[in-house]
Amino acid sequence: MKQKERQDTSVHNPLKKERDRSETSSQGRHAHIGGVKSSKSVPKAKADSSHETTSSSKNMEASESLTSTMNKMSLTGEAETSRDIKSRSARSKSNHKPEEWMLLDKESDILTQLNLAIVGHVDSGKSTLSGRLLHLLGRISQKQMHKFEKEAKLQGKGSFAYAWALDESAEERERGITMTVAVAYFNTKRHHVVLLDSPGHKDFVPNMIAGATQADAAILVVDASIGAFEAGFDNLKGQTREHARVLRGFGVEQVIVAVNKMDIVAYSKERFDLIKQHVGSFLQSCRFKESSLTWIPLSAMENQNLVSAPSESRLSSWYQGPCLLDAVDSVNSPGRDVSKPLLMPICDVVRSNSHGQVSACGKLEAGAVRSGSKIMVMPSGEQGTVRSLERDSQGCTIARAGDNVAIALQGIDANQVMAGGVLCHPDYPVSVATHLELMVLVLEGATPILLGSQLEFHVHHAKEAATVVKLVAMLDPKTGEPTKKSPRCLTAKQSAMLEVSLHYPVCVETFSESRALGRVFLRSSGRTVAMGKITRIIQDS
Ligand code: GTP
Ligand code: MG
Repeated sequence: MKQKERQDTSVHNPLKKERDRSETSSQGRHAHIGGVKSSKSVPKAKADSSHETTSSSKNMEASESLTSTMNKMSLTGEAETSRDIKSRSARSKSNHKPEEWMLLDKESDILTQLNLAIVGHVDSGKSTLSGRLLHLLGRISQKQMHKFEKEAKLQGKGSFAYAWALDESAEERERGITMTVAVAYFNTKRHHVVLLDSPGHKDFVPNMIAGATQADAAILVVDASIGAFEAGFDNLKGQTREHARVLRGFGVEQVIVAVNKMDIVAYSKERFDLIKQHVGSFLQSCRFKESSLTWIPLSAMENQNLVSAPSESRLSSWYQGPCLLDAVDSVNSPGRDVSKPLLMPICDVVRSNSHGQVSACGKLEAGAVRSGSKIMVMPSGEQGTVRSLERDSQGCTIARAGDNVAIALQGIDANQVMAGGVLCHPDYPVSVATHLELMVLVLEGATPILLGSQLEFHVHHAKEAATVVKLVAMLDPKTGEPTKKSPRCLTAKQSAMLEVSLHYPVCVETFSESRALGRVFLRSSGRTVAMGKITRIIQDS
């Protein structure tokens, strides 16, 4: 693996979610797609946004059958390919016996963790909604809020006061847009919610994807105002459809559609119904189940229907459903792979200069760890132990699959811990590979993929240069059956099996082994050209 240059930054954080520390910065082609900021446990990885300043919207415009094809893809091809898998971990995982402490203790874990992404078209009000929620739930003090209001007003950005709680950098505040994913926390009756406020601007789709990879459920924010909804829902320029597809592509099933800015349309039921009809039929075409969707009309600005029933009679006269907070509480938390061996893709690395300590941050995709647990850092293979754990900026004793944590490591060379790597159980190391077979769907508007095409390969938080070395077969998008062997090129909306060779090894698993480590994106010139999954890890001879 190439080494990445590291630089120290310390960022002013009004919510005190972040303290003095250093962070990794990615350089050159071997950058991670982190883009997650603002929490001690899931810290900033802002560096990448600077690499991703070209538009990706057009080529992310997949056909509406994208998600159905992805779903189909997840059902096909696995049986025939899994016997070829040479994954080290795949062979031995069945021997893994979880210890008692790893399993969920119903008594102590009353609140289940829910990773909730807030997505939607630029300016739909995601950050304002997040800031308002945090303020209403006491996560932002009155004093802090006054400070945001004062500062925002001074910069002529008064309407962004709540968004400033999440948009912390000078550039984000000046431009009035979110660029990286901000992480914040609040509790409902049943869930401990990790809120991932994602950027809506098309230039920051990779960061939005980074948030989506961590999400169990999502709030899709739609701007109800006349013209804005239409722009956001536009097939080519709007981000609403693209975000919904990305969510579904990453396996998110439950979505709360927050129809925001209802104040601008006088809380009109007709407008809400029209939006629900349009967005609803689109979401269903993406294979979201109607029963997994919740529709909430609200106004983040006027605090209507956020944490309690609306006080505005123009809304309460026709809406009697749950408020946003109750809808979040009703989301079912997903099952966790706690009894499998540990797997944690590293989203970011925090180094403390004074003590020479290093912490790996990310979301546990499988297994559990506690202080003293032995771990292995891949791809280097270095072994060490867990010194301590932090969740939501607070120390904790155990972290299990689904948790976002910062794991302080000991006995490990700090230079071997890097974003894009994976922490795993020493007996069950993740596969490290350069040659992979993929099943992909080429997205709408993408340039054709040919033998020898040079692409960027994205998997979890890793990014690596890849060359297409074989076009195996074109697939019927409905059945997943091969329709043509060795095609000469792949064009938009086609699904296919192909082989890629990565310039440097990357930690991966087959999709059937781990969804999180087996779901991939192929990008070119700042645009996503295909998404898919790893069907086979090919051992290089
Ligand atoms: P990006 O992160 O850049 O995609 O934007 P965003 O979705 O986070 O939007 P943001 O919260 O930054 O808000 C954009 C603008 O919409 C701001 O001027 C907000 O004040 C305004 N806004 C947000 N919610 C409401 C609302 O409920 N009503 C009205 N009238 N304006 C709102
Ligand atoms: Mg925002």
